[in-house]
Amino acid sequence: MTALQQRTGSVGTPVDRVDGVAKTTGTARFSAEHTYPGLTYAAVVHATISRGRITAIDTTRAADIAGVIKVITPENAPPLKPAPRVSMLNMSSIVSGTSVNYLQDNEVHWDGQPVAVVVAETSEAAKEAAALVDVTYRTTESSVDFVTARLQAQVQKGNPLLPAGAKKGDAAAALAGAAVSVDAEYTTPPYNHNALEPHSTTAAWDGDRLTVHDATQSIGWFRTHLALRFGIPEANVRVIAPYVGGGFGGKAFVWPGTVLAALAARATGRPVRLTLTREGVYRTVGGRTPSIQRVALGATQDGKLTALIHQSVARVGRTGGMPEQITTQSRHLYAAENILLEQRAVEQDVLPTTSMRAPGESIGTFALESAIDELADVLGIDPIDLRMHNEPDRDPVDGKPFAHRMLREAYAEGARRFGWSARSPQPRSMNDGRWLVGMGVASAFHPLMLFTSNVTVRLSADGTVLVRCGFQEMGMGGATVQGQIAADALGVPFDAVRVEYGDSALPSAPMAGGSMQTASVANSILEACAKIRASLESLAKRSGAVGQAPKAVLAKAGVPHVEAAVGSDTRLGKVTGQMRMMRQVMRDRRYLRAATGAHFCEVRVDQDTGELRVSRWTSVFDVGRVINPKTAGSQLRGGIIMGIGMALAEETLFDPRTGRIMNPSLAEYHLPVHADIPAIDVSWLGDPDPTMPLGLLGLGEVGITGVAAAVANAVHHATGRRVRDLPITLDKLV
Ligand code: MOS
Repeated sequence: MTALQQRTGSVGTPVDRVDGVAKTTGTARFSAEHTYPGLTYAAVVHATISRGRITAIDTTRAADIAGVIKVITPENAPPLKPAPRVSMLNMSSIVSGTSVNYLQDNEVHWDGQPVAVVVAETSEAAKEAAALVDVTYRTTESSVDFVTARLQAQVQKGNPLLPAGAKKGDAAAALAGAAVSVDAEYTTPPYNHNALEPHSTTAAWDGDRLTVHDATQSIGWFRTHLALRFGIPEANVRVIAPYVGGGFGGKAFVWPGTVLAALAARATGRPVRLTLTREGVYRTVGGRTPSIQRVALGATQDGKLTALIHQSVARVGRTGGMPEQITTQSRHLYAAENILLEQRAVEQDVLPTTSMRAPGESIGTFALESAIDELADVLGIDPIDLRMHNEPDRDPVDGKPFAHRMLREAYAEGARRFGWSARSPQPRSMNDGRWLVGMGVASAFHPLMLFTSNVTVRLSADGTVLVRCGFQEMGMGGATVQGQIAADALGVPFDAVRVEYGDSALPSAPMAGGSMQTASVANSILEACAKIRASLESLAKRSGAVGQAPKAVLAKAGVPHVEAAVGSDTRLGKVTGQMRMMRQVMRDRRYLRAATGAHFCEVRVDQDTGELRVSRWTSVFDVGRVINPKTAGSQLRGGIIMGIGMALAEETLFDPRTGRIMNPSLAEYHLPVHADIPAIDVSWLGDPDPTMPLGLLGLGEVGITGVAAAVANAVHHATGRRVRDLPITLDKLV
């Protein structure tokens, strides 16, 4: 089918987001915008030490503020069941951001931990009173400085889907004997989540039933977790989140605000709204780990890789956090004869780290793709040629076939669009007046997963279609593309499809994360639509309407609607869901499946002041079939912008003595603004992946990977200066 023959709204057309109008006109109600009769407001009191005990809490001054209903402390908080210790192998524990049982004892585990919650008739009264809660502590010695703690880091196994280590041949010996080598240390700072919508919860109890409006990426996991903590059946918890103002991994797990809102509502017998301040997000929602990484590469004179070593140190909190899989991409990108990958992590007295867009690969590609550029420089080979010279035919570590791999095509197309041939190879050889000009490339890589999803689809006699599935929409276009997929699968116009999502009362879906939601939900919608087409066919045969449109078949058969369920959350549905999941996992093990891409960056650096500007950007991705070019382009562009922020601006500053975050606000934590970002030329190869539903690969995270390296490589080309420590601020260039 050519583009001209496609129906408006079908797969491949750039449909506007179905939630766009509600969001841009202000009629969309976010989690902090739901009103209940008798609604109250909560504010959090944060600990000001990194480790120790509360010895006294004086709430007198706080309780005196007009409008204060209750000051909840460990002395009077209702009971909460303990959170499970976070582990990759226990799905019910993963949802917990920390293992701390909030307000149940006097222990302090990080600077910023909630130690009290004030509930008041107004948000202003709650905040004023929270500032007047007097807490006295006895401090214990703590470990908060990452750089000095690196020596205590322990080797990590990773998880079965993303093993942390790899060993092929003898990489150390190959490195020692290599004709040409590079061996360098790269460091990345901690980063914090700054979604446009701060984490917010509105919680209301009705007897033993809890309703929660929460800014979450995972309504299903949140429901499970809240039921566990409050000791009530899952069926008694409803989590509603049709609109979420960005997540990026920061809303994937349950952080204190959600639990405390429900706890405060239980303590007061009133509905509670808890919106974290921007500072509150920094103090109670985990961020990305800092990292120290060594990449060592050995090669022959003509640029064949003989050794690839990538070792990383990350940090987690003593009360949880998952070490990022920093070396993942180094398993899959280059056909080195000898490979050694190793990940270490150290536990510290800080808020547990958490997922942030492409956890692992975002910072791992910075080190690997910088090192490849360094090697190209030493060898005097074009950095694209060096990459293509080492492009593997199969997975370099275990020899599995690639489900899809078009990195060669991505570089060829990117070089053409960007005008790579105009680059003069020598560093510091191009300029535009006082601006030094540099061009750099780097590869993007993100592994893919497919989960199972429950869904129901109903086709009615009036020709409309209703898709029901409890997935999450954070603004990336999920609801729109699933509508396009259902419309195509049933042969109806896009406008005839309505998609219900963002409510745990709907059939449950996986979290929006890991770049897996679109494909996982699409898989089930396609299965349900196939069932409906089969029902229609038999109805048509019975009623003599063979070959007629769905509407006509239903009319002739006198049937009001046909409905199909996949999974469907029954006990049987759960068992078959697990079997489907196992089949998928087994099938997935046969391939290496990933989205990849090629980034091209041009920078301008003022030769006197070091002022640095990203002046041009081109990226070409291999993300399989694209369902909606408009939403896909925005996702990929957003990832690139976030990567430019990593490269040039973002950095959480921990006081190395106290472990306190010193820049918890958008005034002091720098993010790129529009003036920092050039027009971004994003495209994709569009070739469907044969192993994925509709041939689509996920694209939520691949955009950010490789970006910081492309910038650093362009900076080196412009200035001759290699910056191995992010962010690349101008003090590192003068
Ligand atoms: Mo993501 S970091 O999988 O939300």
